[in-house]
Amino acid sequence: MLIKNAPDIRPSEITPKSLYLRRREFLTSAGAAIAALTAGAFDGEVASAAGDKLPVIRRMVTTSDRPTTYNAVTTYNNFYEFGSDKSDPAIYGKSFKPKPWSVAIEGDCAKPGVYTLENILKPHPLEERVYRHRCVEGWSIVVPWVGFPLSELLKRFQPTGNAKFVEVTTILRPQEMAGQRRQFPSLLPWPYTEGLRMDEAMHPLTLVATGLYGEELPNQNGAPLRLVVPWKYGFKSIKSIVKIRFVETQPLTTWVQEAPEYYGFYSNVNPALTSSTYRNQGTERRLGEFFMRKTLPFNGYADQVASLYANMDLRKYY
Ligand code: MTE
Repeated sequence: MLIKNAPDIRPSEITPKSLYLRRREFLTSAGAAIAALTAGAFDGEVASAAGDKLPVIRRMVTTSDRPTTYNAVTTYNNFYEFGSDKSDPAIYGKSFKPKPWSVAIEGDCAKPGVYTLENILKPHPLEERVYRHRCVEGWSIVVPWVGFPLSELLKRFQPTGNAKFVEVTTILRPQEMAGQRRQFPSLLPWPYTEGLRMDEAMHPLTLVATGLYGEELPNQNGAPLRLVVPWKYGFKSIKSIVKIRFVETQPLTTWVQEAPEYYGFYSNVNPALTSSTYRNQGTERRLGEFFMRKTLPFNGYADQVASLYANMDLRKYY
């Protein structure tokens, strides 16, 4: 389970695909909130494994760290619906069918309904966003996601004043998801559910991802659409979404239900979190690297998101 100790990942376990080797160093200007680079900044060096490139209108790089290889990002995964080993999602995700797909929009909004994937995606031009991603287990990756801001999607459904949170749910399809078939004990209470406060959901960094490395999301990474919330622990970035519900009260999320002493609703990356129940969050191992790195408050996005939590005790609201 997520609470077990992070396994040591030797660089040799990760097939180096050299996808980004020739890539230039892209630096965000010092202190820049979000470095929105114009298309072309990568000069076609966004190499991926194969296949057609998704059309992106803009590229944004939020870190000077080198992206993790495509191979590591797509073979070392957490997606309990396919099993609890890191290799399970790539193996057992193969038979999952992410199309056709639809997303139910429910709750406190003017335009609830069941929308097809095409309808959900069509109005939104795609961007590439290179984000750091930090798992609570102690490993981290840097991923060039393809997607669009969640805020743009949510606005279309016209949330009412009562909508204080969004509750987001993953598909329940045990016939295609081996991890959901496991019983006695069941791996997790299904369906996987996550949530964000409305201002977090509307924050410009919060992404609906439909691809990575220029291609559609592989099943193991949450096809056909998932969230990416880069300042929070990875488990907030829920995969294969089938429902978004606008609600007034804080939703009960899967990991809070599972082990509330470890996982809080907010789960902002916080290196100061060390206690007898919560393991040391001060360092992390980037997949493919040997030396440990220091974990940064809010995963390095503090200048953009710390103000959302200005009056909150982050030890209490972890
Ligand atoms: N979403 C669903 N539905 N099920 C999961 O088990 N795991 C989470 C998150 N989203 C998970 C999920 C965790 S713990 C992490 S670290 C990230 O997905 C991993 O994303 P990645 O495999 O694309 O790196």
